[in-house]
Amino acid sequence: LTSLALTISETLRYRGAIGQWSWVLHRISGLGVVLFLTLHVVDTSWAVFYPELYVEAVAAYQSPIFTIGEFGLVACVVYHALNGFRISLFDARPSLWKHQARAAWIVIAGTIILLIPTFILMFGHVLDFYNEGGQPMGVIDALVKQSPFGAGIAAAGIAAVLLSAVTTAVLPERRGQGRGSRLERFWWSFMRVSGVIIIPLVFGHLIMIHLIQGVFDLTTAGHSVVGTSMINESGSAVEFVAQRWNYLVAGIAIWRLYDFALLALVVTHGFNGLRYVLTDYTMGSRFLKNAMIYLCVIGAVVLLTLGGLALLNTIDSSAIEVATEATARLAGK
Ligand code: HEM
Ligand code: HEM
Repeated sequence: LTSLALTISETLRYRGAIGQWSWVLHRISGLGVVLFLTLHVVDTSWAVFYPELYVEAVAAYQSPIFTIGEFGLVACVVYHALNGFRISLFDARPSLWKHQARAAWIVIAGTIILLIPTFILMFGHVLDFYNEGGQPMGVIDALVKQSPFGAGIAAAGIAAVLLSAVTTAVLPERRGQGRGSRLERFWWSFMRVSGVIIIPLVFGHLIMIHLIQGVFDLTTAGHSVVGTSMINESGSAVEFVAQRWNYLVAGIAIWRLYDFALLALVVTHGFNGLRYVLTDYTMGSRFLKNAMIYLCVIGAVVLLTLGGLALLNTIDSSAIEVATEATARLAGK
């Protein structure tokens, strides 16, 4: 924690060049996306396991506080992707390093240029919703619906601390370069390669859901379902996911495969990134550092398991019925 306080004060004090601010922005944007991803994968799995909860989660996404968060999330993804591409490119071509500062400015300009039309389109969807008399879930209600996540994260934190207490006491401290540094070299390359592959996947996901469909039209009865030739008859969020995941092209459930690739890459990349950040600030204590590593491993394993199981399951008509009733109940409130 002392090192975290030191990083913050030094970042503010040191009037560093653009490189330092790129590093700060890359870190903050990466953390923002990891936090969202944690809520998002758990929420999405409810479409299969607890249809009623999924309806409530999507209704919460449509509340004003999440609408503001959605703009922030898109900004984080765009900046992190462009800056991550710059890092990957420059690390692969060290001869480019002399253009480092200019490239960092190009990333900022590129982010602004991409965000202007994106925000205009997203704002159009928001305006349509409110002009048509849409009644979003209240802010307090939306926050209360997400509160179990606090308990989940606390439970993961306690498990990580206990595991670390046991292993730090029992296992000898590993010194030396051998295995550890080989593993770290793997992760270094993985972050760059996975980052570049994630770019088209995550941008494709956001373009489909935000720009073409619009978050409010996930739950519009009679609206077409993006990426399919189907209609969301009931207007429930669960039917939207079912139509996408059951849509076959040449016998292949293309959106399940797509989400599988997205899930595997963003969770592994995001939680390894989170490990970099958390261990940076706990270097001084072997016990705390190990606890942070366990926390990241637990988080990644939970999300990969829950998200993967959801993708392997079917969403049957009874789940859609339950969701349709829940949607009607929410609308009647
Ligand atoms: C969109 C494409 C993406 C690209 C091109 C990309 C690229 C990168 C790169 C090159 C790094 C630096 C790794 C290192 O220092 O060794 C990084 C770090 C990181 N990424 Fe990504 N990434 C992308 C998406 C994501 C997503 C979706 C998440 C969240 C789920 C994420 C979370 C993180 C975090 C938390 C870090 C650690 C930041 C730090 O150490 O300061 N990234 N990313
Ligand atoms: C507010 C923004 C977002 C909304 C409304 C949204 C919406 C959705 C929806 C409706 C699904 C269900 C399946 C489908 O239609 O393909 C889904 C799945 C998924 N999304 Fe997003 N998405 C958002 C942002 C993101 C971002 C930024 C990421 C990556 C960092 C992401 C990663 C995923 C993954 C991994 C799945 C599969 C989850 C699982 O296996 O259970 N989403 N998303």
